[in-house]
Amino acid sequence: MIFYFSGTGNSEYVARQLADALGERLIGMAQAINSGEMHYKLADGEMVGWVFPTYSWGPAPIATAFARKVTIDGFGSHTYSYMVTTCGDDIALSAQMWRAELHRRGMHCQMAMSVQMPNNYILLPGFDVDSKDLESRKRSAAVSRIAQVVQAIERRSTSDDVVKGSMPWLKSRLVYPLFKRYAMGDAGFASQADVCNHCGLCAKVCPNANIKMSAEGTPQWQGNCVMCLSCIHRCPVRAIQYGNQTQKKGRYHF
Ligand SMILES: Cc1cc2nc3c(=O)[nH]c(=O)nc-3n(C[C@H](O)[C@H](O)[C@H](O)COP(=O)(O)O)c2cc1C
Repeated sequence: MIFYFSGTGNSEYVARQLADALGERLIGMAQAINSGEMHYKLADGEMVGWVFPTYSWGPAPIATAFARKVTIDGFGSHTYSYMVTTCGDDIALSAQMWRAELHRRGMHCQMAMSVQMPNNYILLPGFDVDSKDLESRKRSAAVSRIAQVVQAIERRSTSDDVVKGSMPWLKSRLVYPLFKRYAMGDAGFASQADVCNHCGLCAKVCPNANIKMSAEGTPQWQGNCVMCLSCIHRCPVRAIQYGNQTQKKGRYHF
């Protein structure tokens, strides 16, 4: 069983590749939260995989919210559990943080791997999507990286293989809490009325059902944003902006 969360498709791609290679069932964390299906049962010997993006050098908060609520019958000390996190560059202490979340719920995670994928973070000055060249190099490298992940899972590896990057403690223990406290939220998102084509795709792709379309057909954010950026990246006419930070930034989805 693989639980996954993805905003712009990178982690979904990785999760689907793993599920296909390992013959695992795939469960979307956001879909599960939205439908209230938070109770699962493992078959004999079934493994549990957790796949999600790294946000600000920690696990995407919606994945953490899922781990705090899900119950999995049959998850015991014998269960092989692994996490795979996608990132643009590095994950700092995301693996330790994920383990701490699971331990609180009586679960564990024997192995963690990171997979570098095209970057989708564009909200702060200095952050933009990758160049087309880097994007395609990352995508090609991901194919062999995913094969390594599959091999590690098949041999029930218990060693982590992650890119922590520089100053991991500072990033995960200082920046991540600040991100969760001050940078999560949809107050900065707006749709430019003269550009929006009222297609409603932003509402459809929002994994947290946080966007409702107004009577005039424009998106209204509802205050439960998980910061995945799928709305801003998927808008086909670039009507969605975040403050004045994103007019000149690229857009990306897998
Ligand atoms: C809010 C936010 C924070 C991010 N923080 C990091 C980070 O700390 N390190 C990193 O390498 N990439 C970071 N990224 C980039 C994503 O982790 C990366 O593009 C990921 O593959 C996106 O996955 P998805 O397409 O499944 O949503 C961040 C992206 C977002 C939206």
